[in-house]
Amino acid sequence: MKLLIINGPNLGNIGRREPEIYGHEDFEPFLESLRKKFSEHEIIYKQSHHEGEIVDFLHNADKEGFDGVILNAGAYSHSSYSIRDAVAAISAPTVMVHISNVYARENFRHENVIAAKCKGVITGFGLKSYELAARSLAG
Ligand code: DQA
Repeated sequence: MKLLIINGPNLGNIGRREPEIYGHEDFEPFLESLRKKFSEHEIIYKQSHHEGEIVDFLHNADKEGFDGVILNAGAYSHSSYSIRDAVAAISAPTVMVHISNVYARENFRHENVIAAKCKGVITGFGLKSYELAARSLAG
């Protein structure tokens, strides 16, 4: 399977960003360990701070024949109808992940405008949220 992980805004410095919320582990070494665990699958990683670029990533995932998308849209999860529409428009199933438990945080994080178009949502398991999402897609 070909899986695409998309991280949205402010998710390029995991391990250093608010570690009390997002943990101390850098994303790159985590990604390497994930690739080893899912060695029979191809895992591509993209990150952008820009809404339109994330929309492009989603449409390109479809054109490039990805079998599944793992999306952490960051704060766009709570506001972006463009990303929601892109998730709805593509045929690759998308699993939304959050590192933190958004329901234990500020009220504005309780709303997720993209989730209804996703196959499922995994929130609150740290970077393991991505592994659980990969398992849900790849088995
Ligand atoms: C996040 C939760 C969002 O509310 C926040 O804006 C992020 C990260 C998470 O992974 O926990 O940037 O998506």
